[in-house]
Amino acid sequence: MSIKNITVIGSGTMGNGIAHVCAQFGYNVSLVDIAQTALDKAIVTITKYLDRQVQKQTLTEEQKQQTLANIKTFTSVKDCAPSSDLVIEAASENFSIKEKIFKELDEICAPHCILASNTSSISITKIGAVTKRPDKVIGMHFMNPVPVMKLVEVIRGYATSTETNSLVFDVSKNLQKIPVEVNDYPGFVANRILMPMINEAIYTLFENVAGVYEIDTVMKLGMAHPMGPLQLADFIGLDVCLAILRVLHDGFGNPKYAPCPLLVNMVTAGYLGAKSGEGFYKYEAGSKELVVSKMFTK
Ligand code: CAA
Repeated sequence: MSIKNITVIGSGTMGNGIAHVCAQFGYNVSLVDIAQTALDKAIVTITKYLDRQVQKQTLTEEQKQQTLANIKTFTSVKDCAPSSDLVIEAASENFSIKEKIFKELDEICAPHCILASNTSSISITKIGAVTKRPDKVIGMHFMNPVPVMKLVEVIRGYATSTETNSLVFDVSKNLQKIPVEVNDYPGFVANRILMPMINEAIYTLFENVAGVYEIDTVMKLGMAHPMGPLQLADFIGLDVCLAILRVLHDGFGNPKYAPCPLLVNMVTAGYLGAKSGEGFYKYEAGSKELVVSKMFTK
């Protein structure tokens, strides 16, 4: 089986990045979201990054136009998923929403169609179990920003077949990504390792060992990380970090994954990081300048 038509569900940060790379590497992409305004915004974002690629001469104007022509937008999966070979779901990180989407996809998609989820922490086995094709359900966990990051964490659920796994490996390689196979346990590999590091950085701040700037500088300059853990937490979203830590905590029942009370307080207060304008840093609209929040300056 060869994969030509890909449906991407959800046009937020991850969905539009996934649509961008799939279209750039020649797949026919159907991008789906509930609201046309969200789809229009996604196309503006994709166009902006394609323009940057043209400016940097990593893409020609013709390739940019072809990439955009490869993307069609839809407000209903019913209008595109039946002709798809692969669906990549990048909707909200909420099991009930994913359950509804996968049940519908299972009804309307062709029997050969692979159903992938970009989930960062929800069990692929649990998602597969709501369908009648768990052998064709798999995790394709892209990293943000999708056009830049080389990894696709490919998660095999309990029933995922070897054929599904190898087709997803082929697609990931065609997208010029490096796929890595992992089994379906809480946090998979990426977040099982990343989130405890971020949580420990928040504890280090909470216990007043050092300030935001100092913690991030130690990790950036000392460990050659492109962003410090607190800036990365803001970039990912503090609500997302908290939700993943809760999955690890519940899934393993091990207190070492207990989220730091400071993270819980910040999320409760609506300080979610870059997307809300403030987390460990303040984000000025339209500016990349980071200002350390007053409450966390030493
Ligand atoms: N889409 C497309 N391209 C983007 C982009 C986006 N959203 N954001 C940045 N870029 C590109 C820029 O165009 C630029 O490209 P050129 O070098 O060709 O000009 C390049 O990325 C670098 O961008 P900037 O110069 O603006 O900024 P930077 O050098 O500070 O890099 C960064 C930005 C790539 C985000 C870098 O800081 C980084 O690698 N940070 C860590 C990212 C990371 O760890 N991601 C994983 C998060 S965890 C996750 O996603 C999974 C999960 O489940 C939580």
